[in-house]
Amino acid sequence: MRVRVDYLRIEKKLHSSQPEAINVTDHTVPTAPTKQETDRDDTSTRAKSLAPLRQLLAFLWPHKGRLIAAGTALIFTASAQLTLGYGVRILIDEGFSGADASGLYKAVSFILIIGVAMAIGSMTRFYLVSWLGERVSADLRSAVFNNLVHLQPSYFETNHSGEIMSRLTTDTTLLQTLIGSSVSLAARNALTLTGALILMVITNLQLSLVILVAVPVTLIPILIFGRRVRKLSNKSQQSIAEVGSHAGEIFQSIKVVQSFNREIAEKTGFAHDVERAFVIARSRVWQRALLTGFAIFLLMGGMISMMWSGGIDVIEGRMTGGELGAFVFYAVMVGTAFATLAEVWGDLQRAAGAAERLMELLQESSTIPDVGSNPVASGQRLHFDAVQFFYPSRPDVPALNGFNLTIHPGESVALVGPSGAGKSTVFELVLRFYDPARGAIEFGGTDLRALSLAAWRQKIALVPQQPALFSGDIFYNIAYGVDSPTQASVETAAKMAHAHDFIAALPDGYRSDLGAQGVRLSGGQRQRLALARAILVNPELLLLDEATSALDTESEWHVQQALTEIMQERTTIIIAHRLSTVMNADKIVVMNEGQVVDSGRHEDLLTRCDLYQRLANRQFQSGTEAGVTTSTS
Ligand SMILES: Nc1ncnc2c1ncn2[C@@H]1O[C@H](COP(=O)(O)OP(=O)(O)OP(=O)(O)O)[C@@H](O)[C@H]1O
Ligand SMILES: [Mg+2]
Repeated sequence: MRVRVDYLRIEKKLHSSQPEAINVTDHTVPTAPTKQETDRDDTSTRAKSLAPLRQLLAFLWPHKGRLIAAGTALIFTASAQLTLGYGVRILIDEGFSGADASGLYKAVSFILIIGVAMAIGSMTRFYLVSWLGERVSADLRSAVFNNLVHLQPSYFETNHSGEIMSRLTTDTTLLQTLIGSSVSLAARNALTLTGALILMVITNLQLSLVILVAVPVTLIPILIFGRRVRKLSNKSQQSIAEVGSHAGEIFQSIKVVQSFNREIAEKTGFAHDVERAFVIARSRVWQRALLTGFAIFLLMGGMISMMWSGGIDVIEGRMTGGELGAFVFYAVMVGTAFATLAEVWGDLQRAAGAAERLMELLQESSTIPDVGSNPVASGQRLHFDAVQFFYPSRPDVPALNGFNLTIHPGESVALVGPSGAGKSTVFELVLRFYDPARGAIEFGGTDLRALSLAAWRQKIALVPQQPALFSGDIFYNIAYGVDSPTQASVETAAKMAHAHDFIAALPDGYRSDLGAQGVRLSGGQRQRLALARAILVNPELLLLDEATSALDTESEWHVQQALTEIMQERTTIIIAHRLSTVMNADKIVVMNEGQVVDSGRHEDLLTRCDLYQRLANRQFQSGTEAGVTTSTS
């Protein structure tokens, strides 16, 4: 976008015999960086109509006071700018050709007053309008985030989080530019265009007609050329974005790259991308160079013919020199405003595209309806009644197929079965990340869908298969599920999860920073933090998905002791691949292909369930480490 701003500036300089007078009010420098940023999004589709922008009004409305103030400042500045033409006229007619300096004094004072008025007006307008842009984009960001955070997790499987993030940042920035500069630019230029046109016609009708034909004739080829440059510039931005994402991916997986000795291959691949970006950039620059030359040629031609024909009028006494000066001033304003409006039109289209995408995100609603209002009782039976479930991305293969299970309050139940049997899926459904396609999950006889979602989840704590940690310190991560944690409670939870010792050994203890996603911890340490987090919320229903799989045998033994204690007071469902972990459960449920194959205690299953026997035998044959889940989990 810097490209475009510059090109406009060049045009203005060419048009303008008083460049400063216009440059002060148009395209002021502070808008440039945001415009640059937004241009990165040039590649995204533009909206076909500007209708989506109307939806932005809802976000502007709360700030209507400022909007009106900004509008007033805008009209004020535009009027002052137009009055400057009169200043030019008296400057030439009275200031330069008077006998003494009194005429000059008058003209200069007039221009000075207008200048001060323009300065104050522009400052006010710029502040208010930019404020509005920043405010609305900040509000939009929050609104979009607030909506997305409630959506069902499967939404984020189909919609790339990277893309959503770019919408949150790039698209909102685009709208910030729109409100903070483009709209005001459009309004200002529409005003000055109209005003200057009228004043131009009043000053000299005949010459005006010449200009009115000449301006579009010169501008249209420039605009067409400009469009071509912009297209190339989009392509160029896109190729640079690809270069960036290529590098990002390599750095993220640098260990894989280096371990397979792929550095040289990656260097070649990257150089290829960079070179492609250069070639595109080069043809863009060439087009721009042509455009600049072409523009200067046409505009100078226009100026000269205006000077010539106006000059003849002055010489022959049909017009004063001041009138010509004022006329040229207005003509320049008309040309500039026209060009700017044409440019802003592209911005508006792009912003409409951004608005459309953001509104889509705002209107997205969760497919997990939170309409239940039944109170959630305690100490109830959890019952799966012929649950059938398909993942949205795999609508043909049921992940759970007629799954029946009853879990009594306080019971500890272990789910075992081969990888892909549907064990984790059971947890997903209990947490209502998905709802069953057929059948129902009931708590105390009430369908989960009839319970308030938040009240239901309040009862549960999940230790997921892949523990998720946030960037922040250990304290924050353990205390994530509670509103007002105390040091003592966090430490107790950490001790129960057998995490306290390793935390205390870290240089900053509970204040140790974990890095993004907890990269600074080992797998087993991460698991214990996740466990402590679950213990701290003191859930009625504890879901452990391979919660101790990454621990060494000794830590696991300790955690196991703690878990036995924790499990006594609450309902627990455990998924574990080590039989030692699940052997003591009240009930072991053997799953395969989304169904319950058998359930009972360890000894009984060993004697009667083929699948369980097989899983158990294999584990004992290969020592202790082979899992009940046959492949990696
Ligand atoms: N998000 C998803 N989208 C589509 N299919 C999925 C998704 N998650 C799991 N599946 C599929 O559903 C089936 C059951 O998966 P699930 O994660 O419940 O298995 P699991 O028993 O927990 O296995 P493991 O022991 O390997 O963790 C598998 O076939 C799996 O490929
Ligand atoms: Mg699993």
